[in-house]
Parts: sequence; structure tokens; C-alpha cells
Amino acid sequence: MIAAKAEIPGAPVHDGPVADRRIEPAHKPILYLEEVTVSFDGFRALNALTLYIDEGELRCIIGPNGAGKTTMMDVVTGKTRPDKGTAFFGQTLDLLTLDEPAIAEAGICRKFQKPSVFEKQTVFENLELAMRTDKRVWTTLFARLTGEQRDAIHEVLETVGLTAHRDRRAGELSHGQKQWLEIGMLLMQEPKVLLVDEPVAGMTHQETERTAELLLSLEGKHSVVVVEHDMEFVRSIARKVTVLHEGSVLTEGRMDEVQNDPRVIEVYLGA
Ligand SMILES: Nc1ncnc2c1ncn2[C@@H]1O[C@H](COP(=O)(O)OP(=O)(O)OP(=O)(O)O)[C@@H](O)[C@H]1O
Ligand SMILES: [Mg+2]
Repeated sequence: MIAAKAEIPGAPVHDGPVADRRIEPAHKPILYLEEVTVSFDGFRALNALTLYIDEGELRCIIGPNGAGKTTMMDVVTGKTRPDKGTAFFGQTLDLLTLDEPAIAEAGICRKFQKPSVFEKQTVFENLELAMRTDKRVWTTLFARLTGEQRDAIHEVLETVGLTAHRDRRAGELSHGQKQWLEIGMLLMQEPKVLLVDEPVAGMTHQETERTAELLLSLEGKHSVVVVEHDMEFVRSIARKVTVLHEGSVLTEGRMDEVQNDPRVIEVYLGA
């Protein structure tokens, strides 16, 4: 599907990153960051960062404060332009040539920390609004939904665990439920890649566990990149974990591997 979207006439054809040739065929990267450097007044927030995310994978990114995790997401979503390096979505879509709306349109969605739901609308209506391209509440809520669109909303309600709350106003939801609704709103846009920065901050223990289940359920359908400081949460969803430090990848692997890596222990203790 991405190939069809990515094959824009006249778009430069990317040969595929060098490291890609070493990846086994089972791994199909969808996001390629290579040698990405971002400087703020001479300080390198990202320092030749190279990172590949596979199609459908759930990747956790950890690292001490200031490691560059949020900046990495800013580069992928077009909010920040690197000084150097390349960022590709699929084999052919050069993210550095696209602006933020075009990147979102191509299928890379980002969940910000503060939920931005329409408080006065119901949960169902929020999902309906998220699906529409015309964002005017009035127009949207009086247009008829097709059966297919209704099914899509119901499916997302199930995924985010809000079916029983579908007719409640979003403003009445708990903090955790609002976060799930916002994830649901992003899912309505059928993203290929979903970036979530600190999703469980401010959540109760139970909400955190539910969020873990929700993110795990997306595996295989979307590539999900999760940045989080809550290590218990990371452990509960971890597949491959990437540790960032000073703007580069310090190490990557299973949670137990990275946790026992002396270099990782050192940066965390030193932080
Ligand atoms: N717009 C900016 N201007 C100047 N410096 C910035 C800017 N954005 C980020 N930085 C700096 O870049 C470094 C990396 O920041 P970033 O927010 O990416 O870290 P992070 O890994 O997300 O940290 P945290 O875990 O605290 O969220 C930090 O030292 C930060 O102060
Ligand atoms: Mg951050």
C-alpha cells in the first residue's frame, strides 16, 4: 500500500540505505533515518543518528533526558529539518522534501502528550470528526455516515476500549480515556506509522496497563514508535528497544539485553 502512495511521479528514486542490504528479508523497513544531525546553536541534539523502523513493528525508544528522542520525532514529522542526513518513508518518499501536512497525509501520525479532543462532542463524534477531511464540526456531524464508515468507527472504539463510552462527551472522560480517544482519532486516519511520545505520563497504574495492551494490539497493523521513561511500562510492551544517548543510538536489542548493557547502566546512572 505504501509503495503505491510513495510512488510519486518524478520523485527521486532512493537506492535503499546501505545497511538495508544486511537486513534479513523478513524485516521490511518503512522508516529510514541515516546520519541525521540536528544542531541548536552548535549543540547537537541529534548526532549522525541512524535508525530503521520495520513495517508493523512496535519499537520502544528510551534514553535519558535530552537524548534526542523528541527531536527524532520532530525530524520524522517534518517539524524540524536536520542539518545533515536523510530521512525516508518507504524506499522512495524523501521526508526532508515534505512539509508537516504532507507527511501526515502520507501516513505518519504523531500523538502529542496533551490530548486534543473535542470536549463537547461525544466519543463517537470525535472519531467521526477525525475521519473527515472537512474539519468543520457542523458540516461533519450532519453528513450521513456510510455503513463502512460506521464499521470503521466501531472497530476503532473496540481497539481503544471505548465502546461503552461512545455516547459520552469527551470532556467527561478520565485523562487515560482521553489519551485512548486521541489514539483512536489517529487510527481513524489509518496511519502507517504512529509516533507516541510519553503516552503513559500522568496515567494511573491501571490506565498504564490498558495502554500497554492497546499499543500491543496495534502491532502488525501499524508501525508504532513509543518513547517512554516509565521502564515498567516499556518492559511490558518491549520488543526491540533502542537506547538513544547524546543524539545517537547507544545500543539496540531486547529489553533484558539493553538493561544489562554496562554502557546503558552508565548513562542512566550518570544522568
Ligand atoms: N528548539 C530547540 N532549541 C534549542 N535546543 C533544543 C530545542 N529542542 C531540543 N533542544 C535540545 O536538544 C536536546 C534534545 O532534546 P529532546 O527534547 O529531543 O530530548 P528528549 O530525549 O526528548 O528528552 P526528554 O526525555 O527530556 O523528553 C536537549 O538538550 C534539548 O534541550
Ligand atoms: Mg522528549
